[in-house]
Amino acid sequence: MAILVAGGAGYIGSHVCKLLHKRGFSVVVYDSLIHGYRSFAKWGEFVQGDIGDAECLSLVFTRFKIDVVMHFCAFIEVGESVAEPEKYYKNNVQNTITLLEQMRKHGVNKFIFSSTAAVYGMPERMPIAEEDRKAPINPYGKSKLMVEQILEDYAQAYDFRSIRFRYFNAAGADPDAEIGEAHVPETHLIPLILDAALGRRESIKVFGTDYDTKDGTCVRDYIHVNDLADAHIRGAEYLLDGGQTSYFNLGSGSDFTVREMLETVRRVTGRDFKVVEIERRPGDPPYLIASSDKAQKILDWKPGFSLEDIVRTAWVWQKCLADKTLT
Ligand code: UFG
Repeated sequence: MAILVAGGAGYIGSHVCKLLHKRGFSVVVYDSLIHGYRSFAKWGEFVQGDIGDAECLSLVFTRFKIDVVMHFCAFIEVGESVAEPEKYYKNNVQNTITLLEQMRKHGVNKFIFSSTAAVYGMPERMPIAEEDRKAPINPYGKSKLMVEQILEDYAQAYDFRSIRFRYFNAAGADPDAEIGEAHVPETHLIPLILDAALGRRESIKVFGTDYDTKDGTCVRDYIHVNDLADAHIRGAEYLLDGGQTSYFNLGSGSDFTVREMLETVRRVTGRDFKVVEIERRPGDPPYLIASSDKAQKILDWKPGFSLEDIVRTAWVWQKCLADKTLT
């Protein structure tokens, strides 16, 4: 079976490609390299192109017989999405429609979409279940929810089946340290703390210590990127076996505060670093914890990596990253 991985040279996409390859799937990576790295696309064929480029996509669907498309190409910075909404709606929504159009034109009707916990906005209860209220509070989350709605309509109107995976806090790295998280700019907590532990950053800032949580800092559900990758393979198998359009939260169900993350990094790395407590970051919900019961029930998916594994693999990767320039 051949899988087209749009965004396969990025953080989550590349981990999925590695696992797909290991499990015997043929992989075609399609990536503009705007945020991805050519060196991350080492499993399968590689085509450089933008998902908004209908002609290039058409050539890919003509050249390769694709069974399932996985779509990881998106702009993901919440703050930027507020400042430049057009960029987000164009890339995350309009270009996704171009990809879907080309799929239908070439008779490809199975699709896996990277969605996000951001579709829930400020959730009313924990853990969050898939049917809970969707009320995104920024253009990033709205752009993802719009595509989710488009996919529901496609399922009604066309012979087109899809899965939407709502990731919670994706983290960690390939245990072989071949690939890992390398966003520019980096905004995510774990790589930033590790950078501070490496001395590449003067300090780590804690955004808000007055939340109504056990230690005043925000609580998140961190899930290892390889557990996400495993869910995608199960998702592809589900669609290939005739499964209907569906959607799943992907989280570990664990709840760690920012302060607990700092402590875990100290323990795993054996290093200390400067911590600066500042005001809240706008738009941060105090809690984001997933119920992933649905994925467990329908896809037989269960996370296998602990928080220690997440921090350990990210630490090894971050140390490698310090010694090289990614291309
Ligand atoms: N944080 C800090 N200091 C930092 C960076 C982050 O204290 O330097 C805190 C944040 O305030 C938050 C937690 O660490 O409480 C995690 O922050 P991240 O930026 O790593 O991740 P988010 O929880 O903000 O982001 C996740 C997903 C996004 C999604 C968002 C929805 O990564 O894709 O949840 O709110 F949009």
